[in-house]
Amino acid sequence: MKITYFGHASIGIQVGDINILVDPFISANPKASHINIGELKADYILLTHAHQDHILDVEVIAKRTNAIVVSNYEIVSYFEKLGIEGHPMNHGGQWDFEFGNVKYVNAIHSSSFPDGSYGGQPGGFVIEGEHKNIYIAGDTALTMDMQLIPLYIKLDLAILPIGDNFTMGIDDAILASNFVKCDKILGYHYDTFGYIEIDHEVAKRKFFDVGKDLMLLEIGKSIEL
Ligand code: NI
Ligand code: MN
Repeated sequence: MKITYFGHASIGIQVGDINILVDPFISANPKASHINIGELKADYILLTHAHQDHILDVEVIAKRTNAIVVSNYEIVSYFEKLGIEGHPMNHGGQWDFEFGNVKYVNAIHSSSFPDGSYGGQPGGFVIEGEHKNIYIAGDTALTMDMQLIPLYIKLDLAILPIGDNFTMGIDDAILASNFVKCDKILGYHYDTFGYIEIDHEVAKRKFFDVGKDLMLLEIGKSIEL
């Protein structure tokens, strides 16, 4: 499984020859100006919630690639009206896709579309593919629900928001990594806007001091699990 960071909360996941894109917000992110969304591959687009900084590039990418949008029922219905194929889910449900299993899990946040309309309830994803298991928390507060995840799966990577203000910050993300029982963390949802700028060295040291590895990838860079 190959994980690529496209900035903000945008993640690429390659499982075999299947390409999954999560929460594409790239074209309006000045820090990601070197990423051309016209070249991104996508067989599936997973969306945690309806906020603009998670869905901005969905329509353009899905119409070019014919990717299937996987999200909550309300978000999938919204994109189906735009002629985009979708697979609706809801909290606690899982499905075996051609690349592996996806479970839509709880997140504490909000989820309105840019026009203010209802975007369902926000979530995160637990994804199993090629015998690797990852958790993408989405925009969320620290929540006790995270403790449910290690009851049914052993994670190889937790992708957690660390930018604070709109989501968890560093200290809560460390507690979240304890809750999900994972010591390998990819930080996301930081630095994009003034409200969520972080000190990278302080963040890494705080995780290091409790025996955990916080990775902060350059935009466009990948890791292999
Ligand atoms: Ni949000
Ligand atoms: Mn967000």
